[in-house]
Amino acid sequence: MKNRVDVIIGSQWGDEGKGKVVDVMGTNVDVFVRYQGGANAGHTVIVNGEKIIFHLLPSGMLYPGKLCMIGNGVVLEPEQFLKEIEELRERGQDRARLVVSPSAHVVMPYHKILDKAQEAFRGKRHMIGTTGRGIGPCYVDKYARHGLRVEDLLNGDRLREKLARVLEEKNRILTKLYNEKPLALDEVLEPSLEWGSAMAPYVGDTVELLHQALEGDKHILLEGAQATLLDIDHGTYPYVTSSSTCAAGGFTGTGLPVSRVDRVIAVVKAYTTRVGEGPMPTEEKGDIGEFLRTRGGEFGATTGRPRRCGWLDLVAVRYSVRLNGCGVIALTKLDVLTGMDEIKVCTGYDLNGTKTTSFSGNAYVLEECRPLYEVLPGWSEDISQCGTFESLPKNARDYVRFIEEHAGAPVKLIGVGADRSQTITRGFY
Ligand code: IMP
Repeated sequence: MKNRVDVIIGSQWGDEGKGKVVDVMGTNVDVFVRYQGGANAGHTVIVNGEKIIFHLLPSGMLYPGKLCMIGNGVVLEPEQFLKEIEELRERGQDRARLVVSPSAHVVMPYHKILDKAQEAFRGKRHMIGTTGRGIGPCYVDKYARHGLRVEDLLNGDRLREKLARVLEEKNRILTKLYNEKPLALDEVLEPSLEWGSAMAPYVGDTVELLHQALEGDKHILLEGAQATLLDIDHGTYPYVTSSSTCAAGGFTGTGLPVSRVDRVIAVVKAYTTRVGEGPMPTEEKGDIGEFLRTRGGEFGATTGRPRRCGWLDLVAVRYSVRLNGCGVIALTKLDVLTGMDEIKVCTGYDLNGTKTTSFSGNAYVLEECRPLYEVLPGWSEDISQCGTFESLPKNARDYVRFIEEHAGAPVKLIGVGADRSQTITRGFY
């Protein structure tokens, strides 16, 4: 169906498999847009057995002739951006047209140094477990109104003047607060100018192009990165990322009108994972966690860190579905649960002796929540080649129905394997 705007969001702590869902939807989409976050994301797409990980580029890049955009809400690390384009070019897969917003902020070398220095300063007790990609410090500069935007990289004189001013402050912070070495102006300016000229062909008026697409009967897909529980406002603060990962961020981060959204799609992984610090009520530190990590390949696509794993937390998913107004769920990695005798699902919490079904974005409250589980029977049949809902084993179908009932939205897409082809749809399109 044309002329629609879909937003895809993660409903847990990220790594739900959003990249795969975007890729599966790809043939029907005309315009793919990233709207927040930066190279902290890692969207894995597997086509014909070949694995491609996007950190910055929209996952629609593999589709010939489509329009892909990096919106103003993204923080862009130029080296990573150029590296990803080069990798696609080498594989002969730079098939889409790519346009970058001039208003997107640039992750500069000092942001990455600051990210790591600040984590070290927080110490083991207070660290967030960031990806070290400079995301937080870059968004801080954006809101402090002394960030550099993509447009600044295209103008040598302006860049020199702005950078000199910014570096004066950054160098004081780096040397006096964090005992780091200062950065010389030329050391930062020269690569920045090179990045600017390499990026110039991609910079364009994304807002105008998006509005033309809206008026031109196109299907636009806003591709969220990270996830609701990592949202700067609604996530488990301070153990969050620094952007608006919710669907609402898709509008400030692109310039599309809120009134034009048709569908918000929640991507839900069949179990829960989290990378970095912060509460996770259903975490399993023993054999179950290890089983999920090994079977699900739960190692960070950006940092390689092992992900914390545990049972599906439907209290958290329901919170995300409500918060984002999700009308549809895309359930991923159902096949990972194959072979479990029984599957636990968290449908409530015990909070200091009282039962609650409300999720708290307050990390201190969530820390006190103990999961209350319902136990469902597992299945042993290989489901990786199932092409329809009806062909799934009964217990797998019941698991899906249980999720629909407790999360409050229909499951219309089910991933039963990593490849694009291993996907069941139920009236999704
Ligand atoms: P930052 O975004 O690098 O500042 O990291 C903040 C928190 O978000 C850390 O716990 C990260 O592990 C987490 N995080 C950031 N990006 C992702 C992602 O794409 N998937 C999962 N977790 C992420």
